[in-house]
Amino acid sequence: MMEKILTRNIAVENSHRISAYIASGGYEALKTVLNDLSPDEVTDIVKNSGLRGRGGAGFPAGVKWGFVPKETDKLKYLVCNADESEPGTFKDRLILDNDPHMMLEGIAIASYAIGANTAFIYIRGEFAAQTLILNEAIEEMKEKGFLGKNILSSGYDLDIIITRGAGAYICGEETALLTSLEGKRGYPRIKPPFPAVAGYLNSPTIVNNVETLCCVPHIISRGADWFKSIGTEMSSGPKLYCVSGHVRNPGVFELPMGTPLKELIFEHAGGVLHNRKLKAVIPGGSSTSVLKADEIDIAMDFDSVAAAGSMLGSAGIIVMDEQTDMVDACYNLSRFYAHESCGQCTPCREGVPWMTMILGRITNGKGGRRDIDLLLDICKSIERKTICPFGDAAVAPVKSYIDKFREEFDYYVENKKSMVQENEKSDIVAN
Ligand SMILES: Cc1cc2nc3c(=O)[nH]c(=O)nc-3n(C[C@H](O)[C@H](O)[C@H](O)COP(=O)(O)O)c2cc1C
Ligand code: SF4
Repeated sequence: MMEKILTRNIAVENSHRISAYIASGGYEALKTVLNDLSPDEVTDIVKNSGLRGRGGAGFPAGVKWGFVPKETDKLKYLVCNADESEPGTFKDRLILDNDPHMMLEGIAIASYAIGANTAFIYIRGEFAAQTLILNEAIEEMKEKGFLGKNILSSGYDLDIIITRGAGAYICGEETALLTSLEGKRGYPRIKPPFPAVAGYLNSPTIVNNVETLCCVPHIISRGADWFKSIGTEMSSGPKLYCVSGHVRNPGVFELPMGTPLKELIFEHAGGVLHNRKLKAVIPGGSSTSVLKADEIDIAMDFDSVAAAGSMLGSAGIIVMDEQTDMVDACYNLSRFYAHESCGQCTPCREGVPWMTMILGRITNGKGGRRDIDLLLDICKSIERKTICPFGDAAVAPVKSYIDKFREEFDYYVENKKSMVQENEKSDIVAN
């Protein structure tokens, strides 16, 4: 059993208070960084740890920090992405609720490493309670001298500003987030340029996920080799896995990167509800391709899930039992994506609602034979033809559900009803 690292304080009374965090060794890493290490040395330690971003793409954090130009007269910024809106994902909320100082210490260290004196926390609008917790935590940090001017007499200044989103899923995408942070409508931008070079107000900006930043104080305190000793060679460290859907014990489980998916579902999450058989699993949040029950013998790390034809993404594992109507489940996700498209690109703005309309028609018993191929055609017209990866994210469920469960789609259009008996259907799980 792996020692708990990111969730070690969760069960401690008042774990969200700075006193509890300091009692567990909190802010020692920040002291080490400000007293003994140069920004480049901090970046090198994080690079050597192999830490990969936990927000979905899995990009190496230290490498990204290294992209920030050294010779620039522009201000630099750090942004903590706390938008967490991907259906099936609720790991960052656990940290925000229970251990905000771990994230704040990570923000301070990362800001120092990239030379930023201002950091933002872009938090999901619905996280009102978590925003209050963060406001208090920031005040506590200031009182203890960990934030503000000349932190711990090091000469380093840092301000942390909280900005709340307004309920748009797309604002979790880093460039949409930055546009929103600038006070504009949250439209994604074409990359390159990448935010590390031209981000907030066109200045060098690093965007990192909550969980990514939470790993940083531990890496500084215990070393890059210690971090690399957890997980797999290419995906190091601990991971917060969210398991939801048709399981007995849904929740967030901290385990090493590369934990078998079967172990997560059948041991930690207690197995499938009502002793039913497993039908399908979404491994990494709703934007990742679905896997059939006989495809889940995989390790949950970036490369193993990719090799299985899906993505680790945000590690939001959604379990579906044998009584799930997969066409209806696909329709449910498609409705979400149609609602959340920002509308900038024609293929996404027009194509995703069109797919949703067709899926609705099929589930209403009014679909025709051509509809399934039409759906696949629309997928082709959206994929890789949009400004941001949202288009591909919206296509992944439709393509993979048809690919893996084609017989259920065929049955619907031929028989005008679901293959799963109406009175035996399981509820569709979305978020
Ligand atoms: C549609 C969409 C939504 C996203 N939502 C989130 C989110 O809620 N939180 C997050 O950290 N990253 C999200 N991302 C990924 C971010 O764009 C970005 O890669 C990430 O914040 C970088 O942090 P990391 O390197 O620490 O993973 C999203 C990406 C896309 C395409
Ligand atoms: S792909 Fe969709 S969400 Fe992304 S920019 Fe284009 S319209 Fe907006």
